[in-house]
Amino acid sequence: MADQAFVTLATTDNYAKGAMVLCQSLRNHNTTRKIVALIGPYVSETSRAVLRKLYDEVRLVDVLDSGDATHLAMMKRPDLGVTFTKLHCWTLTEYSKCVFMDADTLVLSNIDELFEREELSAAPDPGWPDCFNSGVFVFRPSNETYEKLITACSENGSFDGGDQGVLNSFFSDWATADISKHLPFIYNLSSIAIYTYLPAFKKYGHDAKVVHFLGKIKPWDYSFDTTSKTVKGQSQDASAMHPNFLLQWWELFSSFVLPQMKAEYGDQPFHSGCTESNIHEDVAQVDTSHHSPPPQMSSQERKQRWEQGQADYMGVDSFDNIEKRLDSFLE
Ligand code: UDP
Ligand code: GLC
Ligand code: MN
Repeated sequence: MADQAFVTLATTDNYAKGAMVLCQSLRNHNTTRKIVALIGPYVSETSRAVLRKLYDEVRLVDVLDSGDATHLAMMKRPDLGVTFTKLHCWTLTEYSKCVFMDADTLVLSNIDELFEREELSAAPDPGWPDCFNSGVFVFRPSNETYEKLITACSENGSFDGGDQGVLNSFFSDWATADISKHLPFIYNLSSIAIYTYLPAFKKYGHDAKVVHFLGKIKPWDYSFDTTSKTVKGQSQDASAMHPNFLLQWWELFSSFVLPQMKAEYGDQPFHSGCTESNIHEDVAQVDTSHHSPPPQMSSQERKQRWEQGQADYMGVDSFDNIEKRLDSFLE
């Protein structure tokens, strides 16, 4: 098993927090595989120190950026050009097989059985199910494949401006060739799907093994009150939210990651190494000032935001509200 590994990527301190929680969730479910983090040069020394404590290996890689503003604009995610950096995972050739996981994923049970799958195994993307979602995939490190992928990037670019576009074009027979390469959706349950197909979530959601906080707003954009154990969103108390994945993320963060960060920061103010954070004694709160509070929106605007994966989970689009509405239709 020493030559198999889970791999993630963090190019910023915020994504590093996700990577810390992901690693802890894998450990809590007793993985027998190695856990590796790829990091970019802008991850602070402090975050690196915490990552080194948690991970078996932390490897510094160059940031690869698609620079493809046009395609990224279509996804309303100008920040995702750097996901080309993910392709470095194919250079981890000391491992024979790996499972890549986005830093915004959380493991809910042991998933070591994924190593029985072959390259390239992945779950469908909730937005276009004939594409796979590149937030969780099984692959075989190979310098040859890496070179081919880099060539594909420079010759053809990516239809979405990020790694998922390149990978889907490269492994283009995924949708049709071999059903064993289709991971069940429970290995990459994107939180968006909860809202787009709630009855299915109610039927199958309890089997979820990996939750993926796909979309612009990430768990670290919320805040958490460690005393009352509640997650707070931008508009209202999030504790009412039913699928408690966000709460689980924050519980792991506050009980396993935060103590390590505190130990690492010592007497320095926390935000010195962790640029966007504002962590108090009792309340771990991420500064959300870069996200303006949701203004009163027309239902058209709300629909648009939802379709872009920006549901207001904590407010009007809360699980409770949607469930009520759905129940009224079902009745
Ligand atoms: N990522 C990163 N830095 C960034 C953006 C993305 O390290 O600035 C990595 C991180 O592992 C992240 C993955 O690339 O989970 C894909 O980005 P994201 O999860 O934000 O995309 P989404 O799943 O929301 O489409
Ligand atoms: C997707 C995936 C993510 C990927 C991004 C850019 O939505 O969830 O892993 O990095 O698109 O291609
Ligand atoms: Mn993601």
